[in-house]
Amino acid sequence: MKKSSLSSAAITDNLGTRFIGQRAIYYPSFPSTNDAAKEEAQKGAVEGTVIVAGEQTAGRGRMKRGWLSPKGSIALSIILYPELAYLPSLIMVASLGVARCIEKVADLKAEIKWPNDVLINQKKVCGILIESEVKGKRADYAIIGIGINVNLKPSAFPQISPTATSLSQELGRDISQLDMIRCLLAEIESLYLALPSGDAVYKQWRDNLATLGKRVRVSSEETTYEGIAESVASDGSLLLRQPDSSLTKIVAGDVTLRD
Ligand code: BTN
Repeated sequence: MKKSSLSSAAITDNLGTRFIGQRAIYYPSFPSTNDAAKEEAQKGAVEGTVIVAGEQTAGRGRMKRGWLSPKGSIALSIILYPELAYLPSLIMVASLGVARCIEKVADLKAEIKWPNDVLINQKKVCGILIESEVKGKRADYAIIGIGINVNLKPSAFPQISPTATSLSQELGRDISQLDMIRCLLAEIESLYLALPSGDAVYKQWRDNLATLGKRVRVSSEETTYEGIAESVASDGSLLLRQPDSSLTKIVAGDVTLRD
């Protein structure tokens, strides 16, 4: 029988991962799974613990924005204890994991917009918020927070409807949130475990970026840049060719396509 309703047991049951998702905490409703994960990490939760919420009432996004997570969406946060050197790669692991699962579970083509938004047909279907606490040369913990619009109508949410889509909107039918969550846990683990073996994850992330080669505007907290998104470095930063031919390395920001 196909399991479809969300619960901690349904998430962990025969998951087949080594550690990600082997411990799951499910809340039907919670302010922010990243906040719950932070509290768990500070209490020393086992690596790979995942917090899932049926809905979030105070979801947080990048650049101090909010994130809408009504029922029908996925809101989850994974606790990791990576070596400091792997912290920049978590955006790659998370966005590639999401893009792969959208293709596997929903059979839809997904693209990544730098640094880690996932788009379908140029509209945002997923946002990722990575938060970490660094002590000296060690990452005390890192949280990968993922929000996916799964079974919801973007038109019901005027704040996001012009730029957002959902899997059900693209497919014309609902898909199993449970199947998507279990896929994410397995894919993210496999990408995370591949990090020490070289730059394969970076190369796949770079090759899945819809942004490269395009004329873009990048807004960071302090400045706005315009130019051609030429490439990305292995630390995840964007290399932007500006009109005066200089190459600027941008660590964080929001990209808007200009063409
Ligand atoms: C963004 O695009 O701005 C990132 C959005 C990240 C949302 C997810 S939902 C699960 C986790 N909990 C949060 O409060 N935020 C992240």
